[in-house]
Amino acid sequence: MGKVPRNRPGSQYDEDQLGFGDIFTEHMLQMVYSEEDGGWQTPEITPLQNLVLHPATMVLHYGQQVFEGLKAFAGPDEDDILLFRPDMNIARFTKSCDRLCIPAPDQGLFMEQMSKLIRLERDWIPKQHGTSLYVRPTIIATDTHLGVRPSRKYLFYIILSPVGAYYPEGFEPVRIMVTDKYIRACRGGLGEAKTMANYAASLLAAEEAHCAGFTQVLWLNAVDKLSIEEVGTMNIFFKMNNEIVTPALEGTILPGVTRDSVIHFARELGHPVVERQVSIEEIVKAAENGALQEIFGSGTAAVISPVSHFRYKDHDHMVADGKTGPVARQLFDELTAMQTGRRSDPFGWVVNI
Ligand code: COI
Repeated sequence: MGKVPRNRPGSQYDEDQLGFGDIFTEHMLQMVYSEEDGGWQTPEITPLQNLVLHPATMVLHYGQQVFEGLKAFAGPDEDDILLFRPDMNIARFTKSCDRLCIPAPDQGLFMEQMSKLIRLERDWIPKQHGTSLYVRPTIIATDTHLGVRPSRKYLFYIILSPVGAYYPEGFEPVRIMVTDKYIRACRGGLGEAKTMANYAASLLAAEEAHCAGFTQVLWLNAVDKLSIEEVGTMNIFFKMNNEIVTPALEGTILPGVTRDSVIHFARELGHPVVERQVSIEEIVKAAENGALQEIFGSGTAAVISPVSHFRYKDHDHMVADGKTGPVARQLFDELTAMQTGRRSDPFGWVVNI
């Protein structure tokens, strides 16, 4: 295991220049699974270090991997370290592991060890509004073998990264491009699991969208090429005729923690929310006849991300006059206030570790 360079809190970055995913804290959690040694071994917190993998390590060939993303926030009191709905991330991790034939770690142990690591690295939690410590639990197949079968050895690890906004636009609206050229997932596939293959499948379309001046791709259903699914790094919401609509979870969409929180929170704030199939043609029509009021995405990394434009079949449509809409703004403000303990939490979602 080679040593990686240390990044000290405060000395190597400005909190308002953080961006996403380039800086890592000094420690990581590691826990090994070995079938022949009876399963999961004792977890260990170690210095952050490179992984040394044999070239035949199974994850490198067959993609047996699962990950999660959640955030730790500095609370109003100096001692507060706040996690947002970590139980949902851990439950989704277990479900993703089941889909990938990976033995999931015990959920209680996961929470306990993750909390221990975050507490150790508490000085790395940035304080500025819009920043947090991003937590990336990951599990990889580590057997050295070239036949296609589930691995008999795994490494579960957690790394931490102080982050700011995910998109370079920050909370400014993003532009999205609808693709019917590629598909991200289909029913019975991996679409609702948080695993590397889904992100690999999205890259080519994302590159083409970037070249055309768009931030992200809006994916359509693989079969009808009309029903809207998700953005790949976010779930998607439309405000039309004073109702918020989001695609229903039907096995191809990642069941986002922020998505679920937006649905509950928006209803609490008095906005009707419907989960149903929604087609791109319906959205185009609503954009053309003035019924479309707002589009925004939701995700752990992206939080709430307003959409100012979308392109479908070479036609560009502007949303909310190209500005951030009031519902996206309200949800962003209320959600981030709750996550950082600056607002009451009627749902009991915030966990102080
Ligand atoms: C997240 O929102 O946490 C994600 O995992 C999306 C992306 C950064 C992969």
